[in-house]
Amino acid sequence: MTHNFELDTLKIRLADPKLATLDLRVRVQRVLRQLILEGVLAPGSRLPATRTLSRSLGISRDTVEIAYVQLQLDGYLSRREGSGSFVSEKIGPSLLGVRQRKPVPISLSGALSARGAQILASGGVNDQQVVKAFATGLPETRTFPTGVWERLQRQVLKDCRDSVLLHGDPQGAEPLREAIASYLNLERGARVTPDQVLVLSSTRQALYLCAQVLVDAGQPILMEDPGYFGARKAFEMAQLEVIPVPVDGNGLCVDQLYADISGANTVYVTPSHQYPTGATLALERRLELIAWAEQRQGWIIEDDYDSQFHYEGLPTACVQGLDRYQRTIYLGTFAKSLYPGLRMGYMVLPPELVKPMTYARSILDGHTPQIAQLTLARFIDDGHFGGHVRAMRKIYGARRDAMAQAVQRHLSGVVTARLPPGGLQMPCILAEGWSELATIRQAARVGIQVPGLSRLYAQPPAVCGWLLGFSALTPTEIEAATRQLAKAII
Ligand SMILES: Cc1ncc(COP(=O)(O)O)c(C=O)c1O
Repeated sequence: MTHNFELDTLKIRLADPKLATLDLRVRVQRVLRQLILEGVLAPGSRLPATRTLSRSLGISRDTVEIAYVQLQLDGYLSRREGSGSFVSEKIGPSLLGVRQRKPVPISLSGALSARGAQILASGGVNDQQVVKAFATGLPETRTFPTGVWERLQRQVLKDCRDSVLLHGDPQGAEPLREAIASYLNLERGARVTPDQVLVLSSTRQALYLCAQVLVDAGQPILMEDPGYFGARKAFEMAQLEVIPVPVDGNGLCVDQLYADISGANTVYVTPSHQYPTGATLALERRLELIAWAEQRQGWIIEDDYDSQFHYEGLPTACVQGLDRYQRTIYLGTFAKSLYPGLRMGYMVLPPELVKPMTYARSILDGHTPQIAQLTLARFIDDGHFGGHVRAMRKIYGARRDAMAQAVQRHLSGVVTARLPPGGLQMPCILAEGWSELATIRQAARVGIQVPGLSRLYAQPPAVCGWLLGFSALTPTEIEAATRQLAKAII
């Protein structure tokens, strides 16, 4: 260190603007440690006395002394009374040059748990992060009343400043649970009290919790086929055996539940608008479904993800409200009725499940951010939620019709559109001779995303086609993108 070059190096490093905000003692200690790790100061080499170094650097001796003491405590220096300070001999080759070397890549084979390897292989859920024709499930966000939201959020911060900055109730903020319960009782024919509501970040989180709390790893769970990939992945992540149950024009084939011999007692279902076919579960099937759950002493997981957007008549009331045996767990999300970036969803639980599910949730991520919960509660209570949903229902209804007409106009020999009674996407069935994969690729080449239908089937025969999201695009955008799609594939 008496060496001029090293002193110069030290001086240059100390002047690094990235370290400018650090206390000088910390800066000296950091830079010396860095030089040791880079091997510039070799193991066993002597450092200058604190007095000498402080003079050379033009800083106080105390500053250097404190830096040396810290380096000694951390094991980088050894100091011997009367003989000086030395770079520790214990700094071996595994540490030396650690700053300069590229990180050593890890081989994942054998490094992950079986569960981790399965998650890696299955690839996660790829949520669309930009609006793109024809990504599924995206609401229109350009017209969202952000001004109202901002105002309500400011009010929340002003009125509840002390509590919202702290941890919140894992079950969710009471005003929001009350708002959700009264909305569901009024609009969805549910029978809910606020203490049955568990506020979460998403439907997927709800599904994962259901899998963890209700079914043991390796055990079966029944699920609609075709069905929502997010649900399948959440169940697979919990290592459940997902057993597909067919769907027809009236929704889930409930008779197949009775025929099931796997011993499963839990079923995932989307009764309002079956995902992806759009079918509505017929009333007699709803009643049979409830009877099945009662008979098996099991659970119905009712995913009511987009029932606000029903375009023909009124949406059917939810299964939860019909179920006097309290075997239904109702799931809702604000990802479609408001905006996906909000990350807010909820479960309505039979009273007996509230405690175990809330405990599990508290372990998973504590609670949902409080400011957003209370802002949403005010948004609902002040009537903005109802108003927004009514306005969007009208807009999406018109977009659905525009999508069907555009498909008919430009792609009539290629696909047949199935007009869904509700929801934000339209299944289109490919005509004979057209390949799903090839058309998806051709569309991708012109920047259009055409989600495939067949990947949503667990069992053959899969229906080949597309599931076109229409809600995030104006009729003009739908027309332009459909024309472009037709040009790319015909
Ligand atoms: C059937 C179904 N359920 C739920 C959701 C919403 O999931 P999340 O709240 O996890 O974003 C979606 C989104 O596409 C869906 O298609």
